Amino acid sequence: MNRSRSITNNLLLFGVATATVLLASYLLWSFAPDLTAIIKARMGAHPSAETIVNALKLVLVGVIAYLLVRALNSLIFGLTFRLRKGFEAPTLVRNVFSIVAFTILFFVAFNTFFPEVNLGALFTTSAIFGVILGLALQDTLGNFFAGISLQADRPFQVGDVITVGAQPHTGVVEEITWRAIKIRTFTNHVVLINNSTAAKEPIEVSPRGNLNARLVNFNTLYTDSPAKSIHVVREAVREADNVSQKVTPIVRIRNLGENSVEYEVKYWLDDYAKYNDTDALVRQRIWYAFRRAGLNFAFPTRTVHVERQPKPGLREGDGGAIVERLAAVDIFAPLSGEETGMLAKAAVRHIFAPGETVIRAGDPGSSMFVVHNGRVCVQLNENGKSRTVATLNEGDFFGEMALFTGEPRTANVVALEETEVLEIGHTAMKGVLETNPDLVESLSFIMAERRQGLVAQADLSAAPAEPAGILSAIKRFFGLT
Ligand code: CMP
Repeated sequence: MNRSRSITNNLLLFGVATATVLLASYLLWSFAPDLTAIIKARMGAHPSAETIVNALKLVLVGVIAYLLVRALNSLIFGLTFRLRKGFEAPTLVRNVFSIVAFTILFFVAFNTFFPEVNLGALFTTSAIFGVILGLALQDTLGNFFAGISLQADRPFQVGDVITVGAQPHTGVVEEITWRAIKIRTFTNHVVLINNSTAAKEPIEVSPRGNLNARLVNFNTLYTDSPAKSIHVVREAVREADNVSQKVTPIVRIRNLGENSVEYEVKYWLDDYAKYNDTDALVRQRIWYAFRRAGLNFAFPTRTVHVERQPKPGLREGDGGAIVERLAAVDIFAPLSGEETGMLAKAAVRHIFAPGETVIRAGDPGSSMFVVHNGRVCVQLNENGKSRTVATLNEGDFFGEMALFTGEPRTANVVALEETEVLEIGHTAMKGVLETNPDLVESLSFIMAERRQGLVAQADLSAAPAEPAGILSAIKRFFGLT
């Protein structure tokens, strides 16, 4: 909208300027003899009246040449270039074209009006003029030629991320002009780096279409298994937004340090310009994955850190909250207080970051989950895209289908916000099922309803969808009579 308005304004301005200059030229050419006579009458022979009129004509022709060059520039580089190549020509190329075209036109016009003056000789023989010009334009010409070599070499383009300069500046290239490279840093400042400076410095280029990698460091205690740490971090990082799915992240030990085992994770980005955000997200994912997997970041070994190990999953003092949570889950309503307490003791608490997958469709599973805090959604994969089937809130449960039937997980369950879940395993559930036949029945109804929801969205027709079928499948699987 703004762009089209500014184009209209420019065209209008251009039209008005052209009309004015053409009118002025018409008047000057028509009244040239009268003007010459007037000047002669007023000023005598020196300077000659013809010279003054010719100089005026040259000025007007110069302005017309300027307008013509601008129009040609916009037509060739703005329009034709954009139509053919899909982007506008670099500013430097446009400027070089304008300067060369204008100089040629100006020389032709000068020769026409002042044939007796030898311009070439004026420039070539005037050594002093050359020295003065050379000194005055030293930096400018340096930048100009460095700019030309940058354009010819094309080591980077608009949109690439580059790091350049003695005090390194990193940012996205916005423009390459005849004087400088303009980059926008990640703090949204614009930095101009002279072409001649850039030509002398090493430049690190991360091209836009290229798979560029980043390294993020972390550490663990010496007691944590490297194989487990590497696996946990790799899986956590590969799921983060903007981490390329084309290459699996690499996690490796960087150093066996004084206080910790030091690792680095190398991952590739879809959009390198967002590497700051992605690095931060990767660190966040590592923290959550560590928490779930029971891995530990290392403290300095000089600090004596005495810690009583809590039961896996449960934090001290929150057993009551978990009993309360489980007692409020509708399918557990028939359980006695003692049985709910047993389930709470067996429950393992996990924490997930927003966007992390809690369970993945197709995986085997022998536990179910209750949402303790937060929210999750149930998703089906459809042609590479995921579609949400249901959203589950605090007190809702999921993962029961695989637990009670032994089949693979039917859907993905993804955390919508930071979510804590309580995981209840096969053994704990078996004890409860044996003494509560009602529980099996109410479960079979809920599972039938959920399966119906899935069948409506995807092809799960092979699985039993009737409560009676599910009931007998559960009993068979758990060896109940
Ligand atoms: P499970 O198959 O073990 O793993 C995926 C879980 O998503 C599944 O168990 C159910 O708990 C849950 N699920 C599947 N379909 C629905 C649905 N329609 N509504 C709510 N939850 C569902």
